[in-house]
Amino acid sequence: MGGTAADRGGFVRVRWVSGSFGVILVAGIVITVLVTARPSVPQPVAFNHRKHTEELGLNCEFCHVHVTKGAHAGLPDAQTCTMCHQAAQGTSAEATRVTTLLAEGDPLTFKKLFRLEPHVFYTHRRHVGIAELECENCHGAIAQTVRPPARPLVTIDMDFCMDCHREQGQTLDCNACHR
Ligand code: HEC
Ligand code: HEC
Ligand code: HEC
Ligand code: HEC
Ligand code: HEC
Repeated sequence: MGGTAADRGGFVRVRWVSGSFGVILVAGIVITVLVTARPSVPQPVAFNHRKHTEELGLNCEFCHVHVTKGAHAGLPDAQTCTMCHQAAQGTSAEATRVTTLLAEGDPLTFKKLFRLEPHVFYTHRRHVGIAELECENCHGAIAQTVRPPARPLVTIDMDFCMDCHREQGQTLDCNACHR
């Protein structure tokens, strides 16, 4: 009979443990969702990188004009798109919409996706112009996307910068990145 009591005790304990594990699991999921659910970035049209880079052969610099010389790479303006889309291009509904929007004088204001806090100093000139690093190192497979990603494909936080700097023997000095 003593065995039964112990079994019951064990059963109760197991239930309690799995119950609190469930609470921790749910809390963990809620926290993860809250932390990772950054607001998505809406864009004026469904731009297609793969079509323009891989299929049409345009260089990144054609649209991101400051990427080798400036701190910021820059996003294209309506004028860049007008060069080709003043006339109808292809047959897709989205290409037709681009031509219509441009004819109406829409500025096609694209919004930044990758963004650092203002206390961090970063420059493309140093990393792309001088060190000749590939875009994929930091931006992942953005050149293969067929529509604008709602969120950055790579999380660029302090560890991300530090890991490469450590591997490549570059500065780990706080003041180099926080000015
Ligand atoms: C050098 C010429 C050129 C430039 C510059 C250009 N495009 Fe295009 N774009 C094209 C061509 C050609 C197509 C049609 C390709 C096809 O359907 O195969 C196209 C297709 C598209 C489509 C449809 C994509 C799809 O998935 O069907 C969109 C959207 C688009 N362009 C947006 C833009 C925007 C926005 C800009 C400016 C940032 C731009 N394009 C700049 C040539 C260009
Ligand atoms: C024809 C113009 C065009 C070309 C060529 C082009 N891009 Fe873009 N790029 C855009 C537009 C428009 C956006 C914003 C919409 C989007 O994300 O698709 C953008 C967004 C980006 C972003 C996100 C920027 C941010 O706001 O944080 C990255 C990174 C990027 N492009 C990298 C590249 C790379 C790498 C190449 C070359 C392999 C390239 N792009 C070629 C037009 C272009
Ligand atoms: C060493 C990492 C790194 C490399 C390599 C890199 N980028 Fe970036 N890129 C960033 C960071 C970090 C940001 C966000 C910067 C900020 O908010 O100040 C960014 C932002 C951008 C943006 C957003 C617009 C802007 O002006 O800030 C575009 C477009 C872009 N990069 C394109 C490119 C292209 C194209 C290449 C390759 C030719 C490239 N990047 C290579 C780290 C990198
Ligand atoms: C993939 C590798 C890589 C990544 C990721 C990277 N860096 Fe760098 N960084 C380099 C290299 C290589 C250099 C040296 C460039 C040169 O030759 O001048 C450098 C140089 C620098 C310098 C100049 C240092 C000095 O001595 O003044 C700063 C500042 C810097 N990086 C900041 C950043 C920040 C901020 C990030 C993250 C947003 C970052 N880096 C991510 C490779 C990287
Ligand atoms: C190679 C560049 C680099 C170096 C070196 C660096 N940081 Fe950072 N730091 C960053 C980036 C990138 C972020 C993230 C900014 C963001 O979220 O946009 C950051 C964020 C921070 C934050 C804000 C909290 C957080 O984690 O987001 C603090 C505090 C900080 N760094 C302190 C330091 C200290 C102290 C040192 C020296 C031991 C240092 N950093 C060296 C790039 C660097």
